[in-house]
Amino acid sequence: MTSYLEAEVLPARNTGAIRLYDAAAFEGMRRACQLTARCLDALAAIIQPGVTTEEIDAFVFRYGYEAGALPATLNYRGYMKSVCTSINHVVCHGIPNDKPLREGDIVNIDVTLILDGYHGDASRMYLVGRVKRAAERLCEVTYRSLLLAIDEVKPGNRMGDIGAAIQAYAEAERCSVVRDFCGHGVGRLFHDAPNVLHYGRRGEGAEIRPGMIFTIEPMINLGRPHVKVLADGWTAVTRDRALSAQYEHTVGVTEAGCEVFTLSPAGLDTPGVTVSKIPAAAG
Ligand code: MF3
Ligand code: CO
Ligand code: CO
Repeated sequence: MTSYLEAEVLPARNTGAIRLYDAAAFEGMRRACQLTARCLDALAAIIQPGVTTEEIDAFVFRYGYEAGALPATLNYRGYMKSVCTSINHVVCHGIPNDKPLREGDIVNIDVTLILDGYHGDASRMYLVGRVKRAAERLCEVTYRSLLLAIDEVKPGNRMGDIGAAIQAYAEAERCSVVRDFCGHGVGRLFHDAPNVLHYGRRGEGAEIRPGMIFTIEPMINLGRPHVKVLADGWTAVTRDRALSAQYEHTVGVTEAGCEVFTLSPAGLDTPGVTVSKIPAAAG
């Protein structure tokens, strides 16, 4: 059985219970998530052929630091960088290094900034110079799957509705959904209950209630869904080495539906990629 508790009464660790946050926490998350979104906006002007992922890492650290925030990934379970940078067939958790980005690469930048104790977690794909149409299409499909999922986030729906929406759409587009990583509750903690699966069946899973805050972060592949983790213990790649894409938003459940805390204030949610709005998601 799923239990739901007011966020403050739970200990500061993942107990499996789902936290319900109050209005003050929603305001804290708005601020942290908007900082993360502005950092991702600023990266759109920087990412181009020749830039290294270590330079991106340094930029993210500095961007947060100057606003009084720290990256949640730094020293997290032995991870030693301020950001994850996942290029081409890297599914997630790519570690920044001194290799320059190359024309035609697609790269996911995943930023989590902690501001006043609240975690703002979001990621976007960036196109490095001109990229192949198949790569751009994968990014389009991936963001669209995220929008369709966000449309399911409202009281009374179930967590399975989120995964079902992503899976049905992505597979209809001849893409596959990574099963090995999921979205998560977020707020005072970086990774909290519930797990947010990106596949599944409508009507299954925990009920969605006002006050819940979680990420949705589908990883969608052009080939098969299977991944392996490299010897560094972090970098997850597609087994078939086909391209993978991911976008991530942090959302808070309201009485009416949800608020997307990590939307870009500059309209740069999908830099370099055009994704038309989903009519139902507009309201
Ligand atoms: N930011 C990632 C997420 O969306 C988690 C990265 S954990 C790390 O949940 F240790 F790999 F950085
Ligand atoms: Co996340
Ligand atoms: Co993230």
